[in-house]
Amino acid sequence: MYAVWNSEKNCSCSRNRVSLGVFFYLGLLLTFFMGCQENNEKDELSSPSCEQYTGASDTKSGPGIAEPLDPFEQNSLLGRGVNLGNALEAPNEGEWGITLEEEFFDLIKNVGFNSVRIPIRWSAHTNIMSPFGIHPGFLNRVDWAVEQALSRGLMAVINIHHYEKLMEDPDAHRKRYLAIWCQLADHYKNMPGELLFDLLNEPNTNLTPELWNDLLVDALSVIRETNPYRTLIIGTAQWGGLGALDDLSISGEETNAIVSAHYYEPFQFTHQGAEWVSGSDPWLGTIWGSAQDYAAVEKDFDRLLSWSQENNRPVRIGEFGAYSKADINSRVMWTAHVARSAEERGFSWAYWEFAAGFGVYNPSSRSWNQELLESLISP
Ligand code: BGC
Repeated sequence: MYAVWNSEKNCSCSRNRVSLGVFFYLGLLLTFFMGCQENNEKDELSSPSCEQYTGASDTKSGPGIAEPLDPFEQNSLLGRGVNLGNALEAPNEGEWGITLEEEFFDLIKNVGFNSVRIPIRWSAHTNIMSPFGIHPGFLNRVDWAVEQALSRGLMAVINIHHYEKLMEDPDAHRKRYLAIWCQLADHYKNMPGELLFDLLNEPNTNLTPELWNDLLVDALSVIRETNPYRTLIIGTAQWGGLGALDDLSISGEETNAIVSAHYYEPFQFTHQGAEWVSGSDPWLGTIWGSAQDYAAVEKDFDRLLSWSQENNRPVRIGEFGAYSKADINSRVMWTAHVARSAEERGFSWAYWEFAAGFGVYNPSSRSWNQELLESLISP
């Protein structure tokens, strides 16, 4: 949420990088070439198709999904979940301190979570030129993570996370974003219904609510080519919160989708002292727990529930959490209240996150933060 990571390792628009002598002219040529490509892109995308992007990687074998799934049932199976944050959505796994381990999945399953959301920075592991091939080694690593979850009876959600260039320049990155989904959808098409696709983490900045709705039409169409029955998760624009809920528009023909909202309210409490949020230091010391604080969460979730009923869409809180710099008692109360308020209304949830700055598990001491864990998984 409101992350300002600048470390994405790919450089998909390198036009302004080359400056001197022959490099300058090469740069101009490249600019011209890429400009043409982008123009062609828009024409081709009037009816997007995955034909040119698939077949690049081995397709996972499995039983697939034999019949349409009920997204409300799927949402209740997702139940209580946790985000495996700061691992595969770092520029490279391990660079933000978390490398996924087999044991994590055992721990998560054994304390009673039902699902994991696996945030993934595909944009750092995908070719910048058409046909935008995903690097096979990285795809194998994601396969491993998905299998770790599914083999233990945990539902798994994979997403596209931290695609910041898409947020900056949605037009230039539209084709690449769709190409990523074409490849993933083809690769995982035989996986069971316990694997769900979450289309994009927190659309923001220049990917406005209107443009997100527009991109969604094509994203749904390319995914449905190969995955007619898989349950999809769709988030709101403007950083994934409740603000853009009423702007979200999903075609009525799409009947197997769960709508996800991220919940970090009040932001000055949950993000106090967060290094990636400028101006958050003065918020340090903000506590939570007054009657008004409790009521504010109820009010937000009632609004979500009405939206869910009016639109006949199941709802999930795809991320929520309070940063470790906040007072632990407030964090515990807030976390319990958000989780219980979601459950009372039939929303699934996924805590942000497992073992980093918001972590419910401490990888150094190899122990759970017991109070936080109990606030999530109530006895
Ligand atoms: C972002 C993370 C951030 C978290 C809380 C997530 O969606 O991807 O980088 O730590 O929200 O702000």
